Amino acid sequence: MMACEKSKILIIGATGYLGKYMLKASVSLGHPTYAYVRPIKPKTDSSKLLLHKEFEAMGATIVQGELDDHEKLVIAVEQVDVVISTVAVPQHLEQLKLIKAIKDAGNIKRFIPSEFGNEVDRVSGLPPFEALLDNKRKIRRAIEAAGIPYTYVSANSFGAYFVDYFLHPREKTNHQVTVYGTGEAKAVLNYEEDVATYTIKAATDPRVANRVIVYRPQGNIVSQLDLISSWEKKTGCTFTRSYVPEEEILKLSESKKLIFFLLFFLCSEVISKRKYLIPNNSLSLSL
Ligand SMILES: NC(=O)c1ccc[n+]([C@@H]2O[C@H](COP(=O)([O-])OP(=O)(O)OC[C@H]3O[C@@H](n4cnc5c(N)ncnc54)[C@H](OP(=O)(O)O)[C@@H]3O)[C@@H](O)[C@H]2O)c1
Repeated sequence: MMACEKSKILIIGATGYLGKYMLKASVSLGHPTYAYVRPIKPKTDSSKLLLHKEFEAMGATIVQGELDDHEKLVIAVEQVDVVISTVAVPQHLEQLKLIKAIKDAGNIKRFIPSEFGNEVDRVSGLPPFEALLDNKRKIRRAIEAAGIPYTYVSANSFGAYFVDYFLHPREKTNHQVTVYGTGEAKAVLNYEEDVATYTIKAATDPRVANRVIVYRPQGNIVSQLDLISSWEKKTGCTFTRSYVPEEEILKLSESKKLIFFLLFFLCSEVISKRKYLIPNNSLSLSL
């Protein structure tokens, strides 16, 4: 498979947060793009129908089906070269059904499972987050056992998602920010549109076949305090900082009062602190 060759790409989870970026990137890069989506039912929100229409207007093909519908899933997989999954966290283990369909179809040149976070074979997290990492590891091992060609994408932290969470830029009059820990440790923030574009490129690139790709551009390595001061410069406002100490973060994580992806961000910080080494089986994308 050549990097510039157009491949038929099937996206599972295209209607989700990352999935929408992925579908747009695939279409923009000229790949015949398919989206396997949950069937429209009388109770389905009308926004979903509009989204399907938007996808079709962009040139994508919508295939309606459930992850449980093995036969339909196999037929959808048989039509394409590459499968990219962007299913939500609670559905990570449901990808075992997708792996079975890809194995039975037997034609897929590359599968990218729904990860897009830390390099899960190299990190461990606080208990609720560790459970998420473990599900991703289980999916990796099932893909390898099934002999499916893969690329695992470690996208680190989503840029828009965390800027929104830490700086709440839409709340024009709120000049308070919460800093977790000292706020000095660094993490890698990658804009979702870039994550999607790199992933579509990686999906058709022979250099990352059966490897992990880590999105870690040097200029995107920032701390929470860096983010806040950049935002202060941009807006001309000064923000009042309130700090959540490390012990408090641990307590909040036990009571599951912290959002999962905050734990993820904090986990990224630990990686940077340890001068994270890129494993032999991975390619680091430094721009
Ligand atoms: N690195 C980061 O900072 C970061 C941040 C966020 C997410 N992520 C990762 O990105 C990936 C995608 O997350 P997301 O936030 O984009 O997910 P999401 O928006 O919650 O949903 C993704 C897709 O899952 C589908 N889905 C939900 N329930 C389903 C079910 N029961 N059966 C079949 N499909 C179902 C949704 O379909 P419907 O539209 O039909 O509901 C949607 O298309 C995940 O692996 C997540 O871990 C990483």
